[in-house]
Amino acid sequence: MRPDDTYYVTTPIYYVNDKPHLGHAYTTIAADVVARWHRLRGQRVHFLTGVDEHGQKVLEAATRRGISPQQHVDEMVEPYKALWERLGIEYDDFIRTTEPRHERVVQAVLQRLKDQGDLYLDAYEGWYSTAAERFWTEKDLVDGKCPDTGQPVEWVQEENWFFRMSKYADQLRDWIADHPDFIRPESRRNEVLGYLRKEVGDLCVTRPVSRMSWGVPLPWDDRFVTYVWFDALLNYISALGYTPDGEPAADFRDFWPADHHLIGKDILTTHAVYWSTMLFALGERPARQLYAHGWWTVEGRKMSKSLGNVVDPHLLIDEYGADVFRYFVLREIPFGYDGDFSHQALMERFNADLANDLGNLLHRSVSMSARWLGGEVGALDAPTEADVALQELADRAVATYAAELEALQFHKAFEALWELVRAGNKYIDTEQPWALNRQGDEERLAGVLRRCLEIVRVAATLLQPVMPQKSHELARQLGIVLDDDEHLSLEGVARLDGLEAGTPLAPARPVFPRMQELPPRIRALLAETLGTQADPPSRSEPDAGGGAAESASSPTPNPETPVAEEQTPLISIDDFAKVQLRTGRILEARKHPDADRLLVFKVDVGEEQPRTIVAGIASRYEPELLVGQQVVVVTNLKPARLRGIESQGMILAAGGKQVRGLVGVSEPLPPGTIVR
Ligand code: MSP
Repeated sequence: MRPDDTYYVTTPIYYVNDKPHLGHAYTTIAADVVARWHRLRGQRVHFLTGVDEHGQKVLEAATRRGISPQQHVDEMVEPYKALWERLGIEYDDFIRTTEPRHERVVQAVLQRLKDQGDLYLDAYEGWYSTAAERFWTEKDLVDGKCPDTGQPVEWVQEENWFFRMSKYADQLRDWIADHPDFIRPESRRNEVLGYLRKEVGDLCVTRPVSRMSWGVPLPWDDRFVTYVWFDALLNYISALGYTPDGEPAADFRDFWPADHHLIGKDILTTHAVYWSTMLFALGERPARQLYAHGWWTVEGRKMSKSLGNVVDPHLLIDEYGADVFRYFVLREIPFGYDGDFSHQALMERFNADLANDLGNLLHRSVSMSARWLGGEVGALDAPTEADVALQELADRAVATYAAELEALQFHKAFEALWELVRAGNKYIDTEQPWALNRQGDEERLAGVLRRCLEIVRVAATLLQPVMPQKSHELARQLGIVLDDDEHLSLEGVARLDGLEAGTPLAPARPVFPRMQELPPRIRALLAETLGTQADPPSRSEPDAGGGAAESASSPTPNPETPVAEEQTPLISIDDFAKVQLRTGRILEARKHPDADRLLVFKVDVGEEQPRTIVAGIASRYEPELLVGQQVVVVTNLKPARLRGIESQGMILAAGGKQVRGLVGVSEPLPPGTIVR
């Protein structure tokens, strides 16, 4: 009997006829996330991936390269391993079907099936598709071509060995009826049931060496090698040390049946029908669940070689980082559905979920704690009604997150967690820590900020399997330093009291800095591949410190490079005297309702009425943190409307397009004091 505290997940083994692409990365990321999750839960996990090295496709790829198939597969396995390393994939085993440990099992299984009368030799003729590597009947063909690939077929007559799949068809029908969760999603289960409504034939499990020699030789008949699918499917148990006879290997006993075979929708029949009946013939149970995910299109089009470049996993890691890539593919489309990968969608998702919601919550709570609580985790105060509601929401979010993740409903898991994160931001808005600070209510201020930090801890903990690096960066901000192999514990994670009061927080640093535009390399590639013009880089919003002037059209110096003196036209003292600078104090600050980059201020500059000033500094500053701050204002700038709000001056700031600091005065001075 399989122990309860183990978990076994597999990916398909990928053909090594080409380098890995987005589709391969997708399944492997999903498997890694559930594997990491179950490890975090304290289970003993076995996560298997690998490569499919036999068969026609691989042989053809080797032939095209003019090298032996063995040399080809030895080389082509490397890009897979290298990509998994960069993507942070922590598999427990990586199987190659040319390994002796695998070939041995394939041969033993064939021998066993032959001995028990489940294999027979028969002459066969039919339409063979080289591209799909399978035979079709006349009525399967579409316009005389292979229904799967659209490629030409040829009439082939040959002897082959057959597996009595038909004998196990009823057992499979019963199994599916008795195990409603065996095939997910439901639509895919119906697809298989539809297939099984028709008569199930036997399965041809060999290829004559004369036609295709790159496969596992039949142990008793050297005219044949094993059909690549029969060979490949066995990887799921050969890797566990399965033998058809004798004592079961320890790993097989502990991990079979697998909890999840993750596959793409195109390889469902092979898994649901071929694989299950093979297992029945061996007297074994099928996996607990086959989960068929959908296919990605790219920028609205079917993935092809050239489009593949636009979503090359290495490019995505280079430009966005592995963690953001991992999060995006699982967040963007429900697992099981088809979906489109668009860079714009990635940027929007990143900005909304990570930069705005989570990033802001972290930044606001850490920087307010730094400002008003000496940079330490505050102590909890007696809970109010709002605090109790927040705790209940946290309990629900954690429970839903766990359940949905385990059901592979990644997007729903994230939705549940983000409900909590957004509630954290709302809690700040309603509790108004800045007002508490003004009123000197230190106890409540500490309690409010503490609960916000706790929500960040909950998010960091739950996101560890998805964003292993970023979640540790979040933890570091909370003053928790973890080694690579250390983790935030799931135990009691939902309770909003897991941090320790008095722990020093790290200085606030953005973990998810907002993306203003797509990276230049991506923009260039999109333009080149899709022939589309990338978005114009800047809108007519001001640069750093942005005041009223029409500054967006002037070239922005790189903030890291001080402008060389000789390039700057000199001005006379009279020119300079035209600029009126005064000290000001920020009375109110809020986000611009129609522009993410802009903040709207009321600034006291020593006049009867405070001035309204709009500034492009939202990427750096939380509005409420600036209330009370002394600034320097250009007071004689012509007013200008910025996204519908009239700005009556400019707040001086350092930096280029990205603001890096506000210009201040060393002493507190009355508003309106002249600056020279
Ligand atoms: N070798 C077989 C699997 C044997 S498993 C015992 C195979 N290999 S494959 O390399 O061609 O494909 C592997 C996986 O990639 C499949 O699950 C397939 O669904 C997936 N994808 C290929 N293109 C894809 C997309 N465009 N989008 C998502 N996944 C896609 O089949």
